[in-house]
Amino acid sequence: MSNNKKLYIKTYGCQMNVYDSERMADVLSPLGYNLSESGEDADIVILNTCHIREKAAEKVYSELGRLKKLKNKRLEQGKSTIIGVAGCVAQAEGEEMLNRAPVVDLLVGPQAYHRLPNLINKIEAGQRGLLEVDFPAEDKFENIPAAESDRIIARGPTAFVTVQEGCDKFCTFCVVPYTRGSEFSRPVEKIIEETRRLCAAGVKEITLLGQNVNAYHGENSVGESWSLGRLLYALAEVPGLERLRYTTSHPLDMDDTLIAAHGDLPQLMPYLHLPIQSGSDRILKAMNRKHTTEIYYDVIERMRKVRPDIALSSDFIVGFPGESSEDFAATMQLVCDIDYAQAFSFKYSSRPGTPAADMDDQVAENVKSERLTELQALLRQQQQSFNKTCLGRKLPVLFTGQGRKLGQLIGRSPYLQPVHADAPQEFIGTIQDVEVIAVGVNSLSGQCEGDRTEIELASGGQVNQPFREGATAL
Ligand code: 5AD
Ligand code: SF4
Repeated sequence: MSNNKKLYIKTYGCQMNVYDSERMADVLSPLGYNLSESGEDADIVILNTCHIREKAAEKVYSELGRLKKLKNKRLEQGKSTIIGVAGCVAQAEGEEMLNRAPVVDLLVGPQAYHRLPNLINKIEAGQRGLLEVDFPAEDKFENIPAAESDRIIARGPTAFVTVQEGCDKFCTFCVVPYTRGSEFSRPVEKIIEETRRLCAAGVKEITLLGQNVNAYHGENSVGESWSLGRLLYALAEVPGLERLRYTTSHPLDMDDTLIAAHGDLPQLMPYLHLPIQSGSDRILKAMNRKHTTEIYYDVIERMRKVRPDIALSSDFIVGFPGESSEDFAATMQLVCDIDYAQAFSFKYSSRPGTPAADMDDQVAENVKSERLTELQALLRQQQQSFNKTCLGRKLPVLFTGQGRKLGQLIGRSPYLQPVHADAPQEFIGTIQDVEVIAVGVNSLSGQCEGDRTEIELASGGQVNQPFREGATAL
């Protein structure tokens, strides 16, 4: 078997998809497939798709149109190409996609990646149009090998670990409970083992992932159920682990242990992404969020008590069915009250099959746009003000890679801000004190201890966030 076949994975959407794409590469590696930077010369192209907001499926179909041309071109050169669609659009479209886009050789839902080698073998043997979207009873995590250490090192000093998948909350606007299925928590030992392996290979920062990460309730080896808080305390003991994060949380699941962990564990970074979606209790009820604004304010207050410097982030939806101008004003008021370090905001997008799609009183597109503009202006202002509070401060920065300019590296602050600084190559993978000398809306610029050279303000530099496909990150 040839060992230099090429695999290209295009990832859309959330960090969980990023993690899943890495796992897909891991399971296909023993078959001789190595990751490639582009689809042009790939023997397998996989689109790992996201279904969270509008036009997701349409985007995939138009990408498949481009891939059809590529496949034909390679065929003229005597080369074959396997085209796969993975992720939530594959799950949602199923058979329909195979009928509409015969270029697709295989469709695989988010719970079935461990079946990829088997599917690829079948395709190499001449089969086509394979579909694997049923949620299998067996746990995909059990069947996916751990990444080898050279693959871990190549991915850099930060890593994701999925601890929980799926959602049982059923917010009325959201497709996740349908595409990712019901809540599942990985066993404690598996997570600790994976974290140990990553840190032994040089990873410094781990972000625990879950659609509802703080609903985590995995079992340990003697069958006890652990909360996310308890898991964090245990992970903080892993040798070499310097930073811990988790995302995405639900306000109802912010229990006392988890909040206490923020006060007790220096490894737990002072940043919390806690979506509220709306500042109106009436809308929260219609969204079936199962919490009020009062509960949210209370969580934030308790969190700030144990970790006064915590940077807060959230998701907002404007123009949910029935949202009046008073409801929207309540959202603006909540944003003013909380004062976010950053946030993500979206126009409500009707998702087929979700309860909100059938609600009366859908809000007009132009009203949604106006509200989004107004909300984003406020959030941008808050993000800028937060960044300004960092000016002149010395922050520990984990350098993750090359900056845009020669001699410059990029890293991230405890508050998840991208930071640019002139620094030697060997600082990649290390945490260094950096004095912040300039701030932009999206990033900071600084100089490393002892380095007095003038550093220009760098711009841009987005950090991946969960479910951010098409999102307006402020
Ligand atoms: N329309 C708009 N935004 C949505 N989100 C989820 N579903 C929808 C939808 N139908 C947003 C929510 C969620 C984030 C991941 O995506 O704000 O927190
Ligand atoms: Fe679950 Fe989050 Fe979707 Fe609500 S918004 S249904 S909590 S994934």
